[in-house]
This record gives sequence, structure tokens and C-alpha cells, in this order.
Amino acid sequence: MGSIITGTGIAIPERVITNHDLARVMDTSDEWIRNRTGVAERRLVEEGTGSATLGAAAGTAALADAGVEPQGVDALITATMTPDFYAPGIAGLVQHEMGLGAIAAFDIRQQCGGFLYGLDLADSLLRADKAGTVLVVGTEVHAGFLPFGPTSWANLTGSAEPPTAEEWDYNTAHRAWSVLFGDGAGAAVLQRSADDGAGLLGAALHTDGAHFELIHVPGVGFRSRPYVDAAAVAGQRHVPVMNGAELFRQAVRRMPQAVREVTEQLGMAVEDLDLVIAHQANERITDGVRRSLGLSAEVVPSNISRYGNTTAATLPILYHELRQQGKVRPGSLVCFTTFGAGAHWGAALYREPS
Ligand code: ACO
Repeated sequence: MGSIITGTGIAIPERVITNHDLARVMDTSDEWIRNRTGVAERRLVEEGTGSATLGAAAGTAALADAGVEPQGVDALITATMTPDFYAPGIAGLVQHEMGLGAIAAFDIRQQCGGFLYGLDLADSLLRADKAGTVLVVGTEVHAGFLPFGPTSWANLTGSAEPPTAEEWDYNTAHRAWSVLFGDGAGAAVLQRSADDGAGLLGAALHTDGAHFELIHVPGVGFRSRPYVDAAAVAGQRHVPVMNGAELFRQAVRRMPQAVREVTEQLGMAVEDLDLVIAHQANERITDGVRRSLGLSAEVVPSNISRYGNTTAATLPILYHELRQQGKVRPGSLVCFTTFGAGAHWGAALYREPS
């Protein structure tokens, strides 16, 4: 029995923020961002829209693609680093907004690893016969993380007034990470198939908390009393802290390692892969993955130039786009791989049904 993806869908916010837009609110340039990251533009939601709404839209599109009614879903897995509320998670919000039944719904928190871990969890539920149809959603609204004050947001959303000098300095202090991220959601429907040779063939998932501090939000959490306060915001501890250089090194090493591990586990070779869907964190990281595996940009494609890093949503958005473009063919051997905050990383092999 295999777990096959029978439908995919995405939700992409309408508002496009280009690098030129960002250069109006901080000391950066289109050239720097493109050269160092590959990002040309990203999408950001309107204030008031959360990752649950984006995730529900992607999930609904995936169900339509699969020809499954909301009541036909047996389990929901939602992965996000940016939930609508601190607690509870978004699974209930997505379940309700999509009109799913009162099913089991899991929130998982593996950040960039969320969708990959979600695929493996869905496969386990299907193999254990606990579900016949599982919906996996990766969704992010990073806009709330972005360290922009009111005059910067006003400028980014249409005002001709420049941000205050104080906001400019603050935005510039956070420019190394804030230019990377964008909002978006992607979803996949997984169902059981009688064909053992198709679907998820295996996964190699890893976590090492020794790398916890590579990218994390230091100041909002229950070690503090209260868990969030004005001092945390004043001290800029409510936004991510990132060791970009070390993250880069780890990502370029760990993703190819995991791809090799899972292919070897299954008696296959890297050369057998038709597509590698790699986490979209930085085009230079994807280039490093290509080099390390000896694969071309056709086999390891990217779409980061249009969306930036959408954390748990990068894998399903890219996979959906490739399916739409007819690049995922019957019988294709696809490898999903990721590295991100936690640190969580890994790879999974998937054979498209013929
Ligand atoms: N615009 C202009 N200049 C900038 C910017 C910017 N947006 N950001 C940093 N700089 C400057 C720095 O201040 C530095 O200036 P200095 O030399 O005067 O000190 C210079 O550019 C070079 O900075 P570096 O940090 O060395 O630049 P690097 O080439 O390493 O690129 C980057 C930084 C893009 C963050 C890179 O390290 C990276 O992509 N790392 C991985 C990030 C990542 O994967 N994050 C997400 C993973 S986890 C998840 O997805 C949740």
C-alpha cells in the first residue's frame, strides 16, 4: 500500500513587495538582495489575515484538485511557524474554516521542516489504517514578524511618506533576515493506493537541538513572566535572531546528506531522481545543494525569486507549481528535502503514480 498525493493547492497573497519597495524603508538594494539570496519579490498578506485563512484556502484548492469533499477528509495536519494566536494552534481554525468534520487535527512545529514532517506523519496515519484521506497544509504569515513600524508599513502599502529615521535604523538592523521572508500556503491531499511501488517510499528525518539558536525568537515564551511584555518588544526579542552564515553552511551540508541517505536506504541513486524539491531559503543554498548532488537546476528547480522563503509552505508551493507546469510526470521519482529552525531537516522519496 502506498500513500499518494491526489491533489495539491496553494494560496498566494495578492500584495507583491519588491526589493525596490524594501529599499524605501531600510538601507538595502535590489542588487544586494538578488545577488545574495535570489529573491526579487515576495507576497505579504493584508493586516488581519492569518496563516489559518491562507492555509484553509490552499487546503480547499487541494481538495478540489483531488475531487474530495471536505467531509471526506479523515485527518488534518497543519504546519506553521506563524500561528494566528500563541495558543491554541491553527489546526482547529483551518478545520472549521474549511468545513471539515470533527476529525483529528494536528499542529506540528518544525518550521521549514513542517511540510516534510507532515508528509511522513500523514503516511504513518495512512499505513496504520487510522485514516484513508489526510490533508497536509504548510502555511505562513511572516508579515507580523517583520520588524517594520507604522510609517514603514504605510510606505510599503502606498504612502509616499518615507519612514521615520528611527524606523529606518531599526529596519536596517534587521535587514539580514527580514528581506528573506514572504507569506504563502500550500497543501496536499494524501490517500491510500493499492500500488506499492507508488507514493511515499521512505523518509530520513532528523533533529538536533544543538543548533536551536541558529534561528529562533528569543523573547516570547513561558520561561518569562509574563511570557510576553513590553520589555521583550523594546529589547527586540520578539523577532527572529539568525546566524545566517552558519545556517547557510548547515543547510548546504544537511540537505544533500539527507537526500543521499534516503536514496541509499531505498537502494536507489541520486542520479535516479527526476526532481528534487528543496526548501527555498536562499537561491545560493539551492545552488550549493545542486553542486553537492551534481544535479542541474532543471532537476533541482526554484521559485524563491517570486516568493522569498515561505518556511513551511515552500515545498508544497513549489511542488504544486511543477505539477501545474506538467514537470511532475507519471512515474517521476521526486525527493523532498529541507533544513530549518529547530534544527529539523531531512528528505523523503516519492514516486508519482504511473
Ligand atoms: N541589504 C544590504 N546589505 C545587507 C543586508 C541587506 N538586506 N543584509 C546584510 N547586509 C550586509 C551586512 O551588514 C554585511 O555588511 P558588512 O560586511 O559591512 O558587515 C554584508 O551585507 C554581508 O553580510 P553577510 O551576513 O556576510 O552576507 P551573506 O552573504 O552571508 O548573506 C544571508 C546573508 C542572506 C542571511 C545568508 O547568510 C543566508 O541566506 N543564510 C541562510 C539564511 C536562511 O536560510 N534562513 C532561513 C532558514 S530557517 C527558516 O527557513 C525558518
